[in-house]
Amino acid sequence: MSDTGEEWQMARRRKGAARKPKTLLGSTASTCCQEQLDVGKTVKRIRDTASELRCEEFWQDWKGQLQAAGSSSPSKPPENKDTEDPTEQPDKGREDRLCQQLECVCYGLGSFSSCAAARYQLAMLLLLLDAGQIPLEDCSVFDPVFSTGEREVLRNLGLTVLTENEEGKRLATKPTLFYLMHCGKALYNNLLWKNWSTQCLPLMTIVGNGFNGMRERTIGREFERDYSYISLAVDVCEERRLLCPSRLIDVFSDTAVITFPTSSLYRLPQSTWAEPQEPQYQHCPDLEIILREKQS
Ligand SMILES: C[S@@+](CC[C@H](N)C(=O)[O-])C[C@H]1O[C@@H](n2cnc3c(N)ncnc32)[C@H](O)[C@@H]1O
Repeated sequence: MSDTGEEWQMARRRKGAARKPKTLLGSTASTCCQEQLDVGKTVKRIRDTASELRCEEFWQDWKGQLQAAGSSSPSKPPENKDTEDPTEQPDKGREDRLCQQLECVCYGLGSFSSCAAARYQLAMLLLLLDAGQIPLEDCSVFDPVFSTGEREVLRNLGLTVLTENEEGKRLATKPTLFYLMHCGKALYNNLLWKNWSTQCLPLMTIVGNGFNGMRERTIGREFERDYSYISLAVDVCEERRLLCPSRLIDVFSDTAVITFPTSSLYRLPQSTWAEPQEPQYQHCPDLEIILREKQS
């Protein structure tokens, strides 16, 4: 997929297609009425998909890339601590952060009961949590399109389902893995804005669309005006491309693991850190985010 806007449209088309009698799930019942979703069957299907992915060669590559990203950022999973160069003397703050358990936040998974891409992405999330030794309940998931049945499935898997639309504005107070697969740029931009400091950004590891690709596919002037935080971050983040087999191009295309090394952040002008303005997207023609409902 070449553009997050296109992806959004494709996802919509996929959802439309899923309403046809023959679905990606091969079931007719679960699509015509999501509330009648067979929770047990769907949980099993997700777990089976995770087992399938675990055997894929590209998963080994993902694990390697995540480990590499972890060793260059403070949000390294705890099990890697012993393999560190013992001659290195990390500062106390960094050491404390390394000892902390990672947590995870997942936005924009999509309707995984009717969309195979979202189901594979959910299964991959389970593998990532396992590899990072992140307890399932420490992973918060949210997508405004989740049905009641899908929220039930997620809770059955052991995940924490958020009830509030945070619009991606989640402050990382400890090392956090953010999983945003094929999400709109505004969601990433909001997340960066909320964490826009040399203290918070290094706590974040993002598995999602590469920022470089977003820049290449967006008109420069609009990218800088509407997505100013991505536009600043793209030059100082570390982006490791994640492999995607051709048969899963709809699911894992253009995915990277993104980290924010503290030393790189200091390359940005000091003025960029002062009073970061909350994004408004007033001039955005095609905003790829569902905003929270306004209180009346
Ligand atoms: C392009 S779709 C991607 C869906 C799926 N990950 C895929 O690749 O098919 C973007 C997703 O972001 C979700 N989204 C939009 N606004 C959101 C918000 N405020 N918080 C979390 N997710 C949101 C949409 O509902 C949609 O499922």
